[in-house]
Amino acid sequence: MEKIVIEGKSKLKGEVTISGAKNAAVAILPATVLINGVCTIDNIPNISDIEMCCKILETLGVKIRKISENTLEIDSRNINCIEASLELTSKFRASYYLTGALLGRCHHAIVGMPGGCKLGARPMDQHIKAFEALGATVETEQGKIEVKAKKLKGTSIYLDIVSVGATINAMLAAVLADGVSTIENAAKEPHIVDLANFLNKMGAKITGAGTDRIRIQGVEELKKDGTYSVVPDQIEAGTFMLAAVATRGDITIKNCITKHLESITAKIIEMGANVEDLGGDAIRVSCNKRPSKINIKTLPYPGFPTDLQPQMGVVMSIAQGTSVITESIWDSRFQYTEELNRMGAKITAQGKVAFFEGVDKLIGAPVYATDLRAGAALIIAGIVAEGETQVYNVEHIDRGYEHIEEKFRKLGAKIKRVQEE
Ligand code: EPZ
Repeated sequence: MEKIVIEGKSKLKGEVTISGAKNAAVAILPATVLINGVCTIDNIPNISDIEMCCKILETLGVKIRKISENTLEIDSRNINCIEASLELTSKFRASYYLTGALLGRCHHAIVGMPGGCKLGARPMDQHIKAFEALGATVETEQGKIEVKAKKLKGTSIYLDIVSVGATINAMLAAVLADGVSTIENAAKEPHIVDLANFLNKMGAKITGAGTDRIRIQGVEELKKDGTYSVVPDQIEAGTFMLAAVATRGDITIKNCITKHLESITAKIIEMGANVEDLGGDAIRVSCNKRPSKINIKTLPYPGFPTDLQPQMGVVMSIAQGTSVITESIWDSRFQYTEELNRMGAKITAQGKVAFFEGVDKLIGAPVYATDLRAGAALIIAGIVAEGETQVYNVEHIDRGYEHIEEKFRKLGAKIKRVQEE
């Protein structure tokens, strides 16, 4: 078993370069199933969710060649299987994108139910609604979803709730459908736009991605080759921005898209820290005083992202005064607060609301990453705290952060990965 050990009380200073976006890459790789050809994708983060995604694609007959750490050549000419096993899909969430992609390409998919972070109920009713609207029949039994269609026909899809996954699956299934599809009440996250950009580069006709109405004019087939570079990771950038505030440090974050960071920037400034847009693709965050209390409510993009809620929770736990977080996306995203309380924080979570009574300091302790972003938050807490923190369940963190200890170490953190019996 591995754990991350941190000797605390470091102020983080220096530069960090952001990797490609996990949540874009885990949609783009399954989307290559729609291409009867070979494409090269760059800026793919080297994380375990991507490894798992490649493993599943290979079971479908996709050939993947690693050109460099972050570049993959993907040959989807010979898809010879429409079934992704539950054994593999249960290991990560975005495996559900194979349903939309296989349905689009082969008109038939059997995909094991997805796994991923345990954040509360994660239903797929909106994905199913979209597939059925396009003319597919859907059956869910024995931990699998089976979708079939003689023909997919463009249609209007209205999502009852804003869902990243359902928006992406609807796009994937509609790209090769007959006629025009529209997705109303679509999610607007940067990874939705990135997927649309990738598909358009490959010959799809998608407009409106990034707004709540996406229009897809079905095409007969996509191009047979192409290259694409994945957008930088909004959540990784936000994680380092919040780490700068929590440690009262000074970090320049390179290879980010500042537009994607507006909701985070606004909240950091409200806490009394400084954010400087350095132009191009860099932003500098510094903090030289105790942050003040603030309140946040997590919302779909462009609101404050739920995936930065735990990292913001660390800042709030050492801020002046009592801050409040209202989590509006997931039912169980406050599990990390118990771990922070073990480090001396004073957090009371009640359902979807948590109250953070700011304390003067955190104290190192053994803690457990309950999910990916909770893990990142606990690392930040360990860097802030006095003494040693040991973060367990590192595999959650490895699902979504590339070279996380190296990046924090370069900024001055005393952090290492240790093997434990
Ligand atoms: C994506 O999950 C991300 N995962 C999550 O990131 C992120 O937290 C989430 O979007 C919200 O931004 C990936 O992109 C792989 P949703 P997803 O469908 O698509 C409900 C991380 O840490 N819902 O937008 O699964 C659902 O229960 C991960 O990187 C339905 O009710 O999220 C939730 O309350 C964790 N029916 C809300 O919608 C459905 O059919 C939003 O979920 C689908 C969703």
